[in-house]
Amino acid sequence: MRNYMMAGLAVGALSVATLAFADGHNEKQLASAAKARQAHMQLYAFHLGTLGAMAKEEAPYDAEAAQTAADGLVAIAGLPQGGYWLPGSDNESIEKTRALPAIWADGSEVGTKGKEFYEAVLAMQSAAGTDLDALKAAMGPLGESCGACHKDYRQSDN
Ligand code: HEC
Repeated sequence: MRNYMMAGLAVGALSVATLAFADGHNEKQLASAAKARQAHMQLYAFHLGTLGAMAKEEAPYDAEAAQTAADGLVAIAGLPQGGYWLPGSDNESIEKTRALPAIWADGSEVGTKGKEFYEAVLAMQSAAGTDLDALKAAMGPLGESCGACHKDYRQSDN
C-alpha cells in the first residue's frame, strides 16, 4: 500500500519533478519520450478495454480477469514516469505527439488530474473482482478521469 501511495504522489509531482530536467534533451530523446508515454497509455487502454467490455456486457463478467485488469492499471500507474514526460516534448515542439504544452505550463493541473485518476484506479482495484455491479459503478469515474486529463492536456483528434 505504501508503494501505491508513493506512486500516487509521484504522479502528483510529475510536473514539478520534470522541470528539473528542463532543456538539454536532444531530438532523439524527446521523440523516444513521446513514444514511451504513448506506450504507457496504450497499456491503460488495453486493461480499460477489458473492464469496459464487461461493464457494457459485451463480454461475460469474469471476476479474475477483471481483477487482473484492474491490478494491471494500478501497476502501470505506479511506474516511474518522469523520464518520459520531458519538458520540450509537447506537440508544439516535436512531431508525433498529442501532448499539449499546457502540461508543463505554469499553473498546470496535470498532477491533480493524475491524482484523481489514481484514486479512480484504486477504487476499481477494490471493486473489479467483487461483482459486476461494483465494476460498473467504478467504471464511470475511472473513464471520466482518463477523459478529464485528455480534455485539457491531449490534442483532440480533429
Ligand atoms: C494525467 C493525464 C492523463 C491521464 C490520467 C490519462 N491520459 Fe491518456 N494521454 C494523456 C496525454 C497527454 C496523451 C498524449 C501523449 C502523447 O501523444 O505524447 C495521452 C494519450 C493517450 C492515448 C493515445 C496513445 C497513442 O498511442 O498515441 C490513449 C489510447 C490513452 N491516452 C488512453 C488513456 C486511458 C485509457 C486512460 C485512463 C485509464 C488515460 N489515457 C489516462 C494524458 C492522460
